[in-house]
Amino acid sequence: MSELVRFGVSLEDDLLNKFDRHIKRQKYTNRSEAIRDLIREELVKKEWTENKEVTGAITLVYDHHTRELVTKVLDVQHDYHACILSTQHIHLDHHNCFEIIVTKGKSKEIEELYQKLKSIKNVKHTGFMMATKGNYLP
Ligand code: NI
Repeated sequence: MSELVRFGVSLEDDLLNKFDRHIKRQKYTNRSEAIRDLIREELVKKEWTENKEVTGAITLVYDHHTRELVTKVLDVQHDYHACILSTQHIHLDHHNCFEIIVTKGKSKEIEELYQKLKSIKNVKHTGFMMATKGNYLP
């Protein structure tokens, strides 16, 4: 466990008031935890920009009745099998499917997988979440 360090930050009161209202809505009970999370978020973004080994999740919504769409979605996933840990497929209703693809690998490769899935015609929605393996964070 690393040592707790206190440091002072100077900023305009308008900005601080706005920040306080923002973190209150997010249910933070103090500024320190909100600032820690902002710092962690920035460090995770850095892992992604530096093409580190990361984790992430991609979501897709599509109609499996659309001609050849399922095949295209699967073909792309097989091309990137090395960075896919698991896929969960949920049948939302008679037409629509929701898929969650959990990934681990170099960030550039995961982003490439996401772009390829996103650009498939007739996919109704795609989502993308950057996460971390945790090794670069204290
Ligand atoms: Ni389905």
